[in-house]
Amino acid sequence: MTTHAEPERHDPNRTPLEHAPGDDTIRVLAVGDIYGSLGRRAAKRFLPRLRADLHADLIIVNGENSAGGRGISLRTARELRDCGADVITTGNHVWAQPDIRQVLNDEDLRVVRPANFPDPAPGAGALRITVKGRDVTVANLLGRVFMEPLDDPFRAIDAILFTLAHNPEDGNRPIVIVDFHAEATSEKQAFAWYVDGRVSAVFGTHTHVPTADGRILPGGTGYITDLGMTGPRDSIIGATVEQTIQRFLTQRSVRLQTPETGDAIFNGVVFDIDARTGACRAVQRVDLLDAAGIDGDAQRRAPS
Ligand SMILES: [Fe+2]
Ligand SMILES: [Fe+2]
Repeated sequence: MTTHAEPERHDPNRTPLEHAPGDDTIRVLAVGDIYGSLGRRAAKRFLPRLRADLHADLIIVNGENSAGGRGISLRTARELRDCGADVITTGNHVWAQPDIRQVLNDEDLRVVRPANFPDPAPGAGALRITVKGRDVTVANLLGRVFMEPLDDPFRAIDAILFTLAHNPEDGNRPIVIVDFHAEATSEKQAFAWYVDGRVSAVFGTHTHVPTADGRILPGGTGYITDLGMTGPRDSIIGATVEQTIQRFLTQRSVRLQTPETGDAIFNGVVFDIDARTGACRAVQRVDLLDAAGIDGDAQRRAPS
């Protein structure tokens, strides 16, 4: 066991977030699954200030649990958009709310659903947004291990990349950010290595538990296995503790709810992308606590 303080080593995958990136860098903040009203409270509290403090050029938020833990509605999508989400990705819960077609068809909300649902499906599996004069494509895919059967996400990303204009002679890749929504860490890692050098960043979502493996793969693709969650801290992946324990004790279906008061966690990751080459230069976690009783609860009481 080391008893003396060791000098901090420089990690080339990290960059100081207090410095604004230059014009040659696109800074992307990706935020883990927003879960219920506490998740939306944390998003409202942190996204505007992180936009300024981190000099974020693009904020991508996973919103698949924003409506009470199940799906995303027009109301919750608008709330996330209004507090700073430029693009909202989803996942296996995408179809849970009755107004999901309106959500996906509203171009201002920029909500993307997993691309590998069988055709035809409402909405789009990838969308393009202009950031600092560059086209940035945000794609959303679902894994298949321990998940519902679905089209192959590996072939699906190939099809998306095939449609994007690029100039292979200069060696630059189009700027593509992928939310790979999956359960199995092996599938997430395999997907990231499969697209290494062809996309700018891959971040995993769905497990609601943040991972500490943020890095840049050899081909220049930024990667992390899971962003984590933005939602109730005293919960079991977002659902109330007691009900979830009852599910395991009884092995019967117990309808889960989500805490609506208390502390909330905010899990996100910053990717710095070279605007010219599309390669990732840095990957860094941003994890915050939205403590109840400070201004979090005050915001909840405010009329909306
Ligand atoms: Fe989720
Ligand atoms: Fe999910």
